[in-house]
Amino acid sequence: MFRLLEGKDVNLRVMEKEDLPLFAEWVNLPEFFGEYNPLRQTSKAEIEKNYDKSTLEQTGFIIEKKDGSKIGFICHFILVHPAGKLLEIGYSLVPNERGKGNGTEAVEIMVDYLFLSKDIMRVQACTDTRNLASQKVLEKAGFKKEGTMRKCLFIRGQLRDACLYSVLREEWKEPKILTRTA
Ligand SMILES: CC(C)(COP(=O)(O)OP(=O)(O)OC[C@H]1O[C@@H](n2cnc3c(N)ncnc32)[C@H](O)[C@@H]1OP(=O)(O)O)[C@@H](O)C(=O)NCCC(=O)NCCS
Repeated sequence: MFRLLEGKDVNLRVMEKEDLPLFAEWVNLPEFFGEYNPLRQTSKAEIEKNYDKSTLEQTGFIIEKKDGSKIGFICHFILVHPAGKLLEIGYSLVPNERGKGNGTEAVEIMVDYLFLSKDIMRVQACTDTRNLASQKVLEKAGFKKEGTMRKCLFIRGQLRDACLYSVLREEWKEPKILTRTA
């Protein structure tokens, strides 16, 4: 079956209710989001409530390998700013699937999908300045660093700086992975 968000090694699939128990397990494992993201513990009920509130403006996807195994999560959401709406992405992989190019491919698929499906000028992402893996993923996927947001993240008891990255529609130009869209 042809699936729209299909890459070379991974596919993205919109998260379904059946994925929520696994997602709840991931979210509550400190190593899933890793040392450069806030700690969080969330009940399954809270996760279900947020899932029911999901809209086209905020959607989560499961990152799957070609054999169907679920290896991570990527989402897009809107940050409302007085001058307009900013579309941001976030992502995380299970530890034993990192360092194999899966994060880069998932972000590339998401960027293609967002520019193909939405009338937006930019996609942005924000990451702890110490998170070199995430910065590398963004740069490989065509994002540029815009600057540093000072002390904007509260992580493991400390305020941390974050890098803001973006890719503009004119820099993206055309799909890198989702070339088969019809
Ligand atoms: C960030 C994350 C998604 C990266 O995904 P990944 O699949 O491991 O990354 P890739 O394998 O695509 O690697 C991309 C590049 O980063 C490099 N890289 C990977 N881990 C690295 C590390 N710890 N330090 C420096 N560079 C690293 C890779 O070598 C690769 O560069 P190369 O192609 O030049 O060799 C993954 O590490 C993760 O899930 N981390 C925990 C959650 C997180 O931090 N999410 C991001 C929140 S902003």
